[in-house]
Amino acid sequence: MNLLALNWKMNKTPTEAQEWAQELGGGLQVSNAELAVLAPALNLPVLATGLPDGVAFGAQDISEHESGAYTGEISGAMLKDVGATYVIVGHSERREYHGETDADVAAKAAQAQASGLTPIVCVGEGLDVREAGEHVAHTLGQLRGSLENVGADVVIAYEPVWAIGTGKTATADDAEEMAAAIRGALREYYPEQAEGIRVLYGGSVKPDNIAEICGKPNVNGALVGGASLKVADVLAMNDAL
Ligand code: G3P
Repeated sequence: MNLLALNWKMNKTPTEAQEWAQELGGGLQVSNAELAVLAPALNLPVLATGLPDGVAFGAQDISEHESGAYTGEISGAMLKDVGATYVIVGHSERREYHGETDADVAAKAAQAQASGLTPIVCVGEGLDVREAGEHVAHTLGQLRGSLENVGADVVIAYEPVWAIGTGKTATADDAEEMAAAIRGALREYYPEQAEGIRVLYGGSVKPDNIAEICGKPNVNGALVGGASLKVADVLAMNDAL
């Protein structure tokens, strides 16, 4: 089953999260995909009680440390305690704005797994790399570094940076080209589990393009930003899958 992961980024107060969850509960008839809301940590307790049964939720970052003197950070144990299932690690916005390296991402992913969470590991190239035709090598390099000492319980999200928030979506063929390359690398890292690891596409996914993208053989869902904020768009994407 596809994973429709909804990255709210830094949006929605707890009150708005409650309203969103109630609206989703009123409109979701049949889930054509596994739905997961990735929200700011303050919203997670609200989602834990407000989301309809079967809709997962999680965080957008995690400390690489188990606990201790790391002011402002949030541990995997805290996320697990409120019922989180997933946590995004290595989103391009954190790599860019917070200088997160592949090694940082790998440490966070390993800590997520140690806490009983499934990391959604983000990789993807910038426009300059794409235009130079280096996108596959770049992304596989990120993947290798971001999966160092990380187990097979992962989701991979390919998010070309030039498609995030721009309205410029990679074509379904672009998404499949990279997803297939990622699958090949996963077969090397996790020979027994590679076929079951979900590879998502993210970058301007909307109700009118999600079906074609997720219909590709190696694409197993989407990581959606802007179109995750309105329940109507989420229901439309679910219906399209
Ligand atoms: O993590 C998903 C996000 O980066 C994609 O954002 O707004 O292009 O769907 P958006």
